[in-house]
Amino acid sequence: MVQRYTQLCPVAFGAGAVSTTGDVGKELGFKKVLVVTDVNVEMIGHSQKVIDSLTEAGIATVLFNRCEMDAPDYIVQAGADLVKSQGIDGIVGIGGGSVLDTAKGISALAANNVTISEMLDFSRKMIPLENPSMKLVLIPTTSGTGSESTIIAVINDTKNHEKIGAMTPPSFAIVDPELTLDMPKEITVYTGMDAFSHACEALTSIQPNPHSDILCYDTIERITKWLPIAVKEPNNLEARENLALASNSAGIAFNDAMVHLGHATAHSMGANFHIPHGIACALVTPVILELTAPVYPVKVKKIGECMGLTVNVSDPKEIGQLVANNVRQFMLQLNVPTLKDLKISREQIIGCTNYVANEGLRFLCPVSATNELITELLGQIYDRYQ
Ligand SMILES: [Fe+2]
Repeated sequence: MVQRYTQLCPVAFGAGAVSTTGDVGKELGFKKVLVVTDVNVEMIGHSQKVIDSLTEAGIATVLFNRCEMDAPDYIVQAGADLVKSQGIDGIVGIGGGSVLDTAKGISALAANNVTISEMLDFSRKMIPLENPSMKLVLIPTTSGTGSESTIIAVINDTKNHEKIGAMTPPSFAIVDPELTLDMPKEITVYTGMDAFSHACEALTSIQPNPHSDILCYDTIERITKWLPIAVKEPNNLEARENLALASNSAGIAFNDAMVHLGHATAHSMGANFHIPHGIACALVTPVILELTAPVYPVKVKKIGECMGLTVNVSDPKEIGQLVANNVRQFMLQLNVPTLKDLKISREQIIGCTNYVANEGLRFLCPVSATNELITELLGQIYDRYQ
């Protein structure tokens, strides 16, 4: 079978990479840049590093620090309006996943003569926009979403309470692990588990390829080893480097292989209960491994082995249970909260069934996700991790 794999954009990786933003801006021909961020990233001083580097390279900057959690549509619209009114020709996003998604949304919207509502409606119907997105550089300050290397921006349609995936590719990613040294313990865990889930789902979707598989196994190994170390030693640069590489690798992998039912379910939990994306992803991952083990027993076994587990069973169902339980142990070790801790009842989580059933990502799951199956899986997420 011939399989196709790609990498969306070049990546500059390494400690201090943020200081090369000006050089990257010059390469891309930027004259005036919108620096997209949020007030927290601005307060820590990370966005200033971007502004300094661009200024040194002779590129003018306008700061847009209004990003909010879950990339709301009205913020994307406000950013695009600013781009149009200020004669801006390039965008640099620096921050966590929501900031990067907002920057992506702005780069698509500002290049087209549509409103954000029209753009989201086009995305919902899979209709491409008329013009390609503006040139965009993305710089993550967390190690989780991998958004700097994926084509999808997840934008919150606040009128319809829906998360919509808009297609808008970055031109260049700058991954600087030093920017993640300040990350609080909880965010380190949740973002790390998001990347872990990307790897598990990309390995078990309907369209993996040899390249994405290699990146995913490596991601799982690195996260298992280095996430607990980064939690204990937040300023351990070696741990941060490994997590940054894992997150970016998983992003490159799932941009091709895609995530599936796990993320469809995590999105429903985010939309209904506003729980952080990484927690939702962690909670669904063991259940997804059990579900897909009969389709991919060798792969799920290897996921366990990448975590240091000896998988001495051959029945696919048992492999799934063994590896899933190992992931649950890992989550307990990292203090990932249970649904009960989050004050979400079994009835409430089962109430997500319709949302998941209407989420397009479920079609990328190798097991047909009927409403009955989705309800059963949601119940298991509650029952099996307490
Ligand atoms: Fe994710």
